[in-house]
Amino acid sequence: MKTQVAIIGGGPSGLLLGQLLHKQGIDAVVLERKTRDYVLGRIRAGILETGLVDLMRRAGVSERMDRESFVHDGTVISSGDVQFEINFKELTGQHVVVYGQTELTRDLYDAREASGAQTVFNAENVQIHGADNDTPYVTYDVEGNQQRLDCDYVAGCDGFHGVSRKTIPETIRNDYEKVYPFGWLGILSETPPVHEELIYANSDRGFALCSMRNDNLSRYYIQCSLTDSPEDWSDEAFWDELKRRIPAEMADKLVTGPSIEKSIAPLRSFVTEPMRWGRLFLCGDAAHIVPPTGAKGLNTAASDIHYLFEGLRQFYSNGDATGLDTYSERALARIWKAERFSWWMTNLLHRFPEQSGFDLKMQRAEIEFLRSNREAQMVLAQNYVGLPY
Ligand code: APR
Ligand code: PHB
Repeated sequence: MKTQVAIIGGGPSGLLLGQLLHKQGIDAVVLERKTRDYVLGRIRAGILETGLVDLMRRAGVSERMDRESFVHDGTVISSGDVQFEINFKELTGQHVVVYGQTELTRDLYDAREASGAQTVFNAENVQIHGADNDTPYVTYDVEGNQQRLDCDYVAGCDGFHGVSRKTIPETIRNDYEKVYPFGWLGILSETPPVHEELIYANSDRGFALCSMRNDNLSRYYIQCSLTDSPEDWSDEAFWDELKRRIPAEMADKLVTGPSIEKSIAPLRSFVTEPMRWGRLFLCGDAAHIVPPTGAKGLNTAASDIHYLFEGLRQFYSNGDATGLDTYSERALARIWKAERFSWWMTNLLHRFPEQSGFDLKMQRAEIEFLRSNREAQMVLAQNYVGLPY
């Protein structure tokens, strides 16, 4: 089999790239290790920067998102019972969109199936060959039979645990990583959100986040120990702890209910450089991971896809490879700023085991400065709504 672009990974990065290429008349085949249902079974965050919304519109996959998403003009930050709003709209003229990333991925799958573009599910043992020469190809197994896909380029959209990043020789690749000493215990409940905007809560007991998917589906998180497991937390224990970490006026109006999903995610900052090796380009979680505090996971994948799509569009339309040759440098410039913001938000709002009394005073002073200084709020708002591509 032959294609122009072999896309490894059928998550949001791979699917968005595939849809943009299809709209441009560039052929791409998606090789996904799992099934569509398995991919859509993952619960993921729901904050979209307008850059990602624009890409979905350009890909022709925005009808349901435009119908069902919510515009949020700001967010609440709290520390104990002190709370204040960061008004993105007033500070930057921009907003963010709340729309479940699982739904965004579902929309992308529906669009890909409607387009007739090829997706191979249950593609096992994917291997990339010849990425460092002019005739790359990918091999993979389906039902135990090895297949070969010849291509011009390979887009590694296969996430943190994929094969693409590991294909770049360790003598060329530099990995940068920070692992945080806690996790996020998250639940989904069919209850109305406690507030019309998100609440990022700092407290002496640890971080909490109040988010939502729609007006009767709420998403809540509390910082937890890495030794915890979801089974350690009854719904009642979760709700009681959440109430202790958010302002009393919010706790008083919190509507609780049975969890329909409960899971723990570790927090990590990670970047690999470079994001290109010959004909192989890394995108999204294959190249970088952020702690979810800044809601930047998919939003940094989106700017990677923007840069790579523009480079491929330029090359296939007039042979100019400038966009491809500058991809890694341009993508990394924006990724490191998102890594900084996510690291900063995580340090601002979480309790760290080794924090001294002085460290706690510094954290509280940082939050108080943010509460009382418009320019500090402007900086947070500019990063949260998304820095320019
Ligand atoms: N071969 C084929 N497919 C693979 C392989 C492999 N060796 N390894 C992983 N995959 C598939 C996974 O099954 C998954 O569907 O690649 C896909 C990667 O998807 P994600 O991990 O969601 O990564 P990405 O598409 O970059 O999404 C980035 O989106 O959902 C948000 O916040 C989330 O940060 C994440 C962001
Ligand atoms: C979510 O809704 O899952 C969510 C929102 C904002 C974040 C992280 C997760 O920063």
